Formats: sequence, C-alpha cells, structure tokens
Amino acid sequence: ALQASFVPKIKPRQRFTNQLQPQASTYKVAILGAAGGIGQPLALLIKMSPLVSALHLYDIANVKGVAADLSHCNTPSQVLDFTGPSELANCLKGVDVVVIPAGVPRKPGMTRDDLFNINANIVKTLVEAVADNCPDAFIHIISNPVNSTVPITAEVLKQKGVYDPKKLFGVTTLDVVRANTFVAEKKNLKLIDVDVPVVGGHAGITILPLLSKTRPSVTFTNEEVEELTVKIQNAGTEVVEAKAGAGSATLSMAYAAARFVESSLRALDGDGDVYECSFIQSELTEMPFFASRVKLGKKGVEAVISADLQRLTEFEAKALEALKPELKASIEKGVAFVQKQA
Ligand code: NAD
Ligand code: LMR
Repeated sequence: ALQASFVPKIKPRQRFTNQLQPQASTYKVAILGAAGGIGQPLALLIKMSPLVSALHLYDIANVKGVAADLSHCNTPSQVLDFTGPSELANCLKGVDVVVIPAGVPRKPGMTRDDLFNINANIVKTLVEAVADNCPDAFIHIISNPVNSTVPITAEVLKQKGVYDPKKLFGVTTLDVVRANTFVAEKKNLKLIDVDVPVVGGHAGITILPLLSKTRPSVTFTNEEVEELTVKIQNAGTEVVEAKAGAGSATLSMAYAAARFVESSLRALDGDGDVYECSFIQSELTEMPFFASRVKLGKKGVEAVISADLQRLTEFEAKALEALKPELKASIEKGVAFVQKQA
C-alpha cells in the first residue's frame, strides 16, 4: 500500500502519551537548522514519533530555548540541544537519521538557485561533519536548491570516502503532499486515498507530477493536467509571495519532512512496505540524480520504481525532456562547486 499520510500506523491517541508504546523507541534523529522556520515545527512533529529515542537539535543560535520547550512534551524521546560548530560532532554521534533544513529561504522574486551562494557552503560544512561523525546515517537534504545541494552532499561524502548513494535523499515529499492535496480538491476525492508520484527535481519545471499515475486511477482533461501541473510546480513560489519577504513554506514543509523521517524510521525498523518519492542518485534516466518513487529498506533505497516512467502521456514525456537541461545544469553546478575547492 502507498502511504497517504505520515505516521499512518499509529493510533492518534498513542502519539500524545508517555505510556509504553507498542514499538520500541530506538532511533536517534538530528536536525541541523533546528531553530529555523522549518526546524521548529519539524522538531515538534518528530518529538511525537514513538520510534524516536533521542532528538538532537543543532543550530548556530537560539536552539537552547527550542529544546527546553520541546523537552516538556510527554513523549518518549529525549531532546538535546547543540549550539555552534564546537558542538556539532557531539550532536551527530550515534545518529540514525540526519535532517538538514539549515540555510536561507527565498524572498519574492528569487529562484531557488539564487540561494546557491549561501546555502552551498552551509550544506558542505555540515555534511563534512556528518561524514566524520555518523557516516552510516540516512541523510535528508531540505536546504535549497535541492537540485544542487544533493549533488554537493554526494561529492563531499565521496571526498571523505563514505558515500553510500542509497542513504542520501533530497526531500521532495512536499511536492507529493501538494500534488495529493490539489488533485483531491480538484477531483473531490478522499485525501487519504490520493497518491501522485512526482519525479524530476525540486525547482520550477523540474518538478514533474505524473498525474497519469495517480492512484486511485483518475482521468483528467488536458486543461486540468496543465493547470494542476503548473499549480504544483509554482506552489513554493505561491507561499513565498504570500509570506511577502518573511520566508518560504515552513509548516507544510515540516509536515512533509516529518512524513519522510517517519517513513525512513519505519524502513529502518523492518517494515517491508515503505514507498516515498525522493531526489536520489539514479540510473532511471540519463540524469545522474533524479526524483522518483523508491522503496525504502533498512539500508536505504532498496528499489527504484521504474514503472512510473513507463507509458507516460505525451504531455508528461515532453515535460520530462524539457526539464532535463535545467536539472542537468543544477546538478553539474553542485558537483563543480565541491570539485573546484578540492
Ligand atoms: P529559516 O531561515 O527560517 O531557518 C534556517 C535555519 O538555519 C536558521 O535557524 C539558521 O540559524 C540555520 N542556519 C543557518 N546557517 C546554519 C549553519 N551553518 N548551521 C546550522 N544552522 C544554520 O529558513 P527555513 O524556512 O527553515 O528554510 C530552510 C531551507 O529549507 C531554505 O533553504 C529553504 O529554501 C529550504 N526549503 C526546502 C523545501 C523543500 O521542499 N526541500 C521546502 C521549504 C524550504
Ligand atoms: C518549496 O517548494 O516550498 C521550497 O522549495 C521553498 C521555496 O523556495 O519555494
């Protein structure tokens, strides 16, 4: 079955108790950039997971208060705070999943690529520490531009000799969450049932919802396909403009990232039925990194679901070709950024 929402296997009441949980709380999760717009609500949602034994919060400032606040929730995980580079190694030791939303968000008029100059360095420095302290962890990259920050992460890990492509994920769950929401609204479907695979990358036209592969099976007119595709591709910009200078999506992003963390933890815990879309190193197309549906297992990506790219509609096939030059350029920019500093 496909996961339509995160934590689907936990009864609502269990999320808010300190009673013994049916699942053991055994996993340690670190958030780098934990005091930020995404970091704070994401930390709260992860604090609700019965699978988490420790939640390590890292930021360059303001993380002590966030941790003190969260630590009063009567859920199993212990919350620890880490401030600044001198505490980063301790934050990462023994961690199973590292989530990275550190970096600056867009303002109106900016593309995600306009964040490259600042965020590339932030991600590179943080990933060097990940490589040194928890090289076996699943790494979830949220910081934009994801199409470049994921290749940056891969290059840093390669330089450190610890790259496992199965454990590096660009978080594109928000694109799926949005696609599911917009399709359910448009077609009057029960939200919980709708699942739309979104492939490609995470910026503008590189975001390609495969509406023809929507489950349950739905038919769309050509106009609906065009309208929904553009709405999904521009959803990030819609939020940036609505926030008018105060940042980009944080709450829906935290929801989406928490779903991806929970899926990763369930996979680590041996659940054999975990599927998510993610931007990963890939051989599905000629692009070296590509977002698609993957099966998650204890060792990370267990299988790439190639069926979604078969029997595309003419619209999807054209859109797939059209996104490749931009996606390729963004990937190469990330790779070159690390290699030229070597
Ligand atoms: P924010 O400015 O509210 O928070 C960012 C946090 O990162 C801040 O607390 C800041 O102190 C911290 N930070 C900065 N430099 C750091 C460093 N060197 N080490 C550790 N922490 C550091 O921004 P936000 O709204 O939380 O967005 C964060 C990033 O996520 C942005 O790049 C944004 O574009 C991206 N984003 C991605 C998606 C996605 O779908 N992948 C969705 C939304 C936002
Ligand atoms: C999003 O899709 O909301 C994020 O990538 C943030 C942004 O800049 O749009």
